[in-house]
Amino acid sequence: MKKYILAFETSCDDTSVAVIDTEYKVYSNIISSQPDHEAFGGILPELASRLHLRNINKCLDAALLKSGIDLQDISAIAVSINPGLIGSLIIGMSFAKALAWSLDKPLIAINHMLGHVMANKIEYPHLNPPWIALVVSGGHTELVLFESFTNFFIIGQTLDDASGEAFDKIAKLLSLGFPGGPIIDKIAKNGNPNFHKFPRALNRKNNFNFSFSGLKTSVFNWLSKQQSGYINDHLNDIVASVQQAIVDILVIKTINAAQKYDIKKVIVAGGVSANSCLRAEMSNQCEKNDISVYFPKIQYCMDNAAMIGAAAVMKFLNNEYADLSLNAFSTKGIRYI
Ligand code: KG4
Ligand code: ZN
Repeated sequence: MKKYILAFETSCDDTSVAVIDTEYKVYSNIISSQPDHEAFGGILPELASRLHLRNINKCLDAALLKSGIDLQDISAIAVSINPGLIGSLIIGMSFAKALAWSLDKPLIAINHMLGHVMANKIEYPHLNPPWIALVVSGGHTELVLFESFTNFFIIGQTLDDASGEAFDKIAKLLSLGFPGGPIIDKIAKNGNPNFHKFPRALNRKNNFNFSFSGLKTSVFNWLSKQQSGYINDHLNDIVASVQQAIVDILVIKTINAAQKYDIKKVIVAGGVSANSCLRAEMSNQCEKNDISVYFPKIQYCMDNAAMIGAAAVMKFLNNEYADLSLNAFSTKGIRYI
C-alpha cells in the first residue's frame, strides 16, 4: 500500500506544502511566494514570518486538494527545522507539530539543505551515494561529500557571500530586481561572457572553499569607473561576464573535489542549480572527466516542500521520528543536520 508524507517548508520567504509518496512521486507541491519583500530589495524576516502564518493553512488546503489525498490517509508529517530565518522556521514547525499531534501521526524533522540535495531523488529515485554535492543557494555554498545517506561531511564552503547572494547583490548593483539569479540568467543569454574578466577567488587546486564578496566589490569598482551609457549598452555582456565568473569557480572546484576524493557522481542542488550556464558548463566538464552529473528538475531547485518530503522518505522508512519537544534553529548545526 502507498504511504504518503505531508511536507512543510517555511525556512525563508516561500510557504510551501507538498504531498509525496515513499517512491518519491509528488502529488502536489504548492508554493506561495512573497513578492511583498521586493519593495525592500531583500527579505524582511518579520514580514516573512507573518506572511507564512497567513498563508500556511491555505497552502495546506490547496496541497491536499490537488493531491486528491485525504489528511487521514497521510502516514507522516515532515518539516524543515534548520537552517533559515528563525521566525519563519518556527511557523512551519509549530504548524506541523500541531497537525502531527492532532492527527496522531509521526513527525519528521528535516534539514533544509539536505532537502535541496534530496530534491534530486524526485527525478532519480534510484540515485545513491557516494556523490559530491554542490549545494548552491541564496544563503549557502558548499561542497559536501556523501559517503552514504547518513555519513557525509562538508569539504568546502563559502567564507563570505553565498553564490546566490552574489547573484542577488550584483543584480542589485545594476538595479535589475530581486532575486537577481533568475534575472541575470535570462539577460546573460544575450551577452558575451568574455567581455570582461572578473576575478575567480581562491582558485587553487586543493582549496575547496569559496569567496564571492571580492567579486561583488570588483564589479562595484569596475562599474563606478564606467559611464552609465556604456553600462546600459553593454548590460548583457557585463551580466554574462559576472555569471561566467561565478559559474567557472563553482565548476572548477566541484571537478577538483570529485577528482581528489575519486567520486564519479556529482549532484547539484539549491536555487542556483537552476542556472542555465551552470547546468551547461557543469555537464560539459563532468562529461570530459567521466563523471555523471545530476540536477533537480527546475521546479524543485528553489525552496519547495516536495524536496523536504523527499528528504523525509528515508527517515520515515527507518522510523526516525521527532518528538513534540522538537525545536527549530537558524544555524546549520553539527554535522550539517
Ligand atoms: O535555494 P533557494 O531557493 O533559497 C535558499 O535556500 O537560499 O535559493 C535562492 C537563490 C537566490 O539567491 C536566487 O537568486 C538564486 O537562488 N537563483 C538563481 C537562479 N534561480 C534562483 N541563481 C542563478 N540562476 C538562476 N536561474
Ligand atoms: Zn533553500
